Amino acid sequence: MEDLKQVAARAALDFIKPGQVIGIGAGSTMAHLVNYLKEDATRWKHITTVTSSFNTRQLLLENGFVVKPISEVSKLDIYFDGCDQFDQHLNALKSGGGIHTHEKLLAAMADKFILVGDGSKYVAQLYTTFPVVIELIPESLPFVMQRIRDLFSLANPVLRLSNKKDGAVISENGNLLIDIWFRSFPPLDSLNQRLKDIPGILETSLFYQMAQVAIIAGKNGVEIIR
Ligand code: 5RP
Repeated sequence: MEDLKQVAARAALDFIKPGQVIGIGAGSTMAHLVNYLKEDATRWKHITTVTSSFNTRQLLLENGFVVKPISEVSKLDIYFDGCDQFDQHLNALKSGGGIHTHEKLLAAMADKFILVGDGSKYVAQLYTTFPVVIELIPESLPFVMQRIRDLFSLANPVLRLSNKKDGAVISENGNLLIDIWFRSFPPLDSLNQRLKDIPGILETSLFYQMAQVAIIAGKNGVEIIR
């Protein structure tokens, strides 16, 4: 039986046209999307794909899809991705994977950025059950930690440590990641920019007003939010 992530992924197919350049993000919902593309390979073999995710890339290649490196692309027809949480204005937190810098780049390139997920991701407003993650250059760590504490009195910045080995998680770009746990979120309309104004910070996992569409599967069916 299909689970709700599969149902949402299948509904995403309706947005794609053969020949398009399609960005595909990370996570299990995106893996379902690749599996559905593969099931109808004759129809979809002429799409070009680009991805922010190592695992999605492997899956696409194993199934014979053309995968372009991000560095060779400046425009996508659509970028599909999952998220941890999104609100009614389609602001999203994409904090889990720690690959938000590439994800945001692809979202920005796309004519349409479409969030895909099960209904559990949809909340009236973003909650602090997820951190805002920042990617920062390693040299800036003490400065960035201090600046965050100075700017946001209710924030607890925590360096992301590896649970597999001694040391910090190193991002795909050779940088560090900090999970910023807020007791309550400062105004979202300025939060992304306030963080990015701190020298050393590359990108944040808050996708503010970037998505145009969300495909959500719940027990009553699929809902398209625009
Ligand atoms: C990774 C992400 C994922 O899309 C997000 O974690 C959702 O994953 P899943 O589809 O497995 O629920 O943002 O950076």
